[in-house]
Amino acid sequence: MIELRDVWFSYNSGKPIIHGVNLRLSNEITIIIGPNGAGKTTLLKIIACLYKPDKGDVLIDGVNFWKLKSKEKLIMRRKIVYVHENPVLFKGTVMDNVTYPLIIRGHSLEKAREKALKLLKSLKLEYLTDRKRNELSAGEFQLVAIARAIISGAKYIVLDEPTSNLDLEHRIVLESIIREIVKSGKQVIIATHDRLFALKLNTEIIEINNGEIRSILHSKDLYQEIEEFIKKAGKKSLNS
Ligand SMILES: Nc1ncnc2c1ncn2[C@@H]1O[C@H](COP(=O)(O)OP(=O)(O)OP(=O)(O)O)[C@@H](O)[C@H]1O
Ligand SMILES: [Mg+2]
Repeated sequence: MIELRDVWFSYNSGKPIIHGVNLRLSNEITIIIGPNGAGKTTLLKIIACLYKPDKGDVLIDGVNFWKLKSKEKLIMRRKIVYVHENPVLFKGTVMDNVTYPLIIRGHSLEKAREKALKLLKSLKLEYLTDRKRNELSAGEFQLVAIARAIISGAKYIVLDEPTSNLDLEHRIVLESIIREIVKSGKQVIIATHDRLFALKLNTEIIEINNGEIRSILHSKDLYQEIEEFIKKAGKKSLNS
C-alpha cells in the first residue's frame, strides 16, 4: 500500500500546490480526477516518489520513503513506475524499449523478447514491434510507454492521463490489461479526465481540486453524476 500523511508540496518554494493530503491507496485500482491545474500530476509524482514533499510522509509498504538512505531509495524506486502523459521513449525500436526493463534486470535477450512480444500482442500492438519511436502515432507512443511500465515488474503502476490519445478500441484494450495486471497483485493509480474510463474501471475515485481532496467517490456515484448531467443537458436543449 502507498500512504500519504499530511503531505504539502510547492514548486520552487512558492504557494502550496498540495495542501495537507492524507491518502491510503489500498484498492487495486485508484482513479484521481479533478479540473486542469487541480494538482493531479503533482500528486501522482509525489505518490511515485519523484517529488519530495515539503512536509509530510510518503509510505511505501509501510516504509517512509524520504527517510531512506540513497541506496535503499534506489531499491524502493523499482517498486513504482510512473508513466508521464507525454512519455519519453528511447532511441531504437518498440521491441528495444519494451525489453529494456527486463534486460537491465538480468533477463536474457531471448526471454525478454518473448515476454515483450506476448505483452505487445495482448495490447494489439504486435504490428509495431520493429518500428522506431518517430514512426509511432501519439496513441501508439503512449501505449508502448505503458507496455514498458507494465513489463518492468513494478508493483505500483502510476499512469498520468493514459487514455488522452487513445481511440475506443485501445481504451477497451487498456482497460482489460489493467484488470489483468491487478490480478497479479499489482496496484494501478491513474489520473484522468476520462470519466467514462473511470466509470468502466468500477473502482474508487478520488476527486481533487486546488491541491485538496474534495471527495472520495465510487464509479457508481460518477455514473449518477453523468446521468444527471445528461438529463440537465437534454432539458436545456429541449427548452432552447
Ligand atoms: N513545474 C511547475 N512549476 C510551477 N508550477 C507548476 C509546475 N507544474 C505545475 N504547476 C502548477 O501546479 C498546479 C497543479 O498542476 P498539475 O500539473 O499537478 O495539475 P493537473 O491536475 O495535473 O492538471 P491537468 O489536468 O491540466 O493535467 C497548477 O496550478 C500548475 O500551474
Ligand atoms: Mg496533469
